[in-house]
Amino acid sequence: MKFFADTADTDEIRDLAATGLLDGVTTNPSLVSQTGRDFFDVLRDICSVVDGPVSAEVTATEYDGMLVEGRKLAKVADNIVIKVPLTWDGLKACKTLSGEGTGVNVTLCFAPVQALLAAKAGAMFISPFVGRLDDIGHEGMQLIEDIRTIYDNYPDLSTEILVASIRHPGHVAEAARIGADVCTCPPAVIKKLVAHPLTDKGLAAFLADWQKTGQNICSA
Ligand code: E4P
Repeated sequence: MKFFADTADTDEIRDLAATGLLDGVTTNPSLVSQTGRDFFDVLRDICSVVDGPVSAEVTATEYDGMLVEGRKLAKVADNIVIKVPLTWDGLKACKTLSGEGTGVNVTLCFAPVQALLAAKAGAMFISPFVGRLDDIGHEGMQLIEDIRTIYDNYPDLSTEILVASIRHPGHVAEAARIGADVCTCPPAVIKKLVAHPLTDKGLAAFLADWQKTGQNICSA
């Protein structure tokens, strides 16, 4: 499973990229707004450190406007993927942009049939939002399971399931168990994936015992 960072913060992206674990980035208008920076500068900076797909979302809501914005954003770098909302116009824009060879990420997916439509429109990625479903008392991960089943029923569909709106490591573990293709996580969640109290406890014990030997690997 691939890991994308769900952020527009370039310092955090550089830090994650240095681990070799980062396969791509997703941004959205809210995340860009939090940076207070120019959208195109942010995208150029991200693409200078990340080779994988970098999602940039259109803000037009009509088909024609989405195409104008999508084509302009796609010129920033070869790895830009255009994010469009899961609306009628968004699906039409997905079909056109995909036909032009631009990767499209269809976002704000909350139902399995929406994901089927996006795949038929040629989306490179579908972004189901699990956390926002959990927030209203639904079972977000059920959506991932349903989309996985539907896509597997039709092997000619090549759209990747990009699990979005991830809140905690449990979401990542479940997404991997189900066989989602990508998880896009806030950097804080990616960092939490490495942590386990028994790892910390075990390391402390090893180091305490090593201290007793009086040895030093570097000076041996
Ligand atoms: C996905 O691409 C979105 O940017 C994101 O995952 C939304 O997450 P949120 O529900 O935490 O805002």
